[in-house]
Amino acid sequence: MTTEIDAITSQRKMLSEAGYAEPAINYFIEKKYMGHLQDASQISEKVGSCGDIMKIYLKVDEHNIIQDVRYEITGCAGAISAAMAVVDLIKGQPLDKALTINDGDVFKRLENIPEKKHHCIQLAVKTMHKGIEEYQSASNL
Ligand code: FES
Repeated sequence: MTTEIDAITSQRKMLSEAGYAEPAINYFIEKKYMGHLQDASQISEKVGSCGDIMKIYLKVDEHNIIQDVRYEITGCAGAISAAMAVVDLIKGQPLDKALTINDGDVFKRLENIPEKKHHCIQLAVKTMHKGIEEYQSASNL
């Protein structure tokens, strides 16, 4: 247990020194929306310019409200924290509203991540937009 806490403490320190703000570090450590949804309405995948991969699972209700979201990610700490922040921004929102969420909104939520990680935010947002657009076209919305 102590070893686990020590590991998290040193991970926090490393991320903080690298330029990640507290909210971004918490999103990365907690990873609360990582994984998949059994009953997803839509599953979409996107490969980033860095070669990393994100898969999004969206659960949408009959009123086009996003009920639940999960991400599977092969990517860096920036990608993970950005994707987790995206979920907090779109969960419970109508599809159209979620499509207006942009990189700046996610950055604000994270407070700060290193500049060279900004494209990771883009990947999280683009994956979410792709998922919604594919869902909409499959459902003729
Ligand atoms: Fe590829 Fe961050 S470096 S998503």
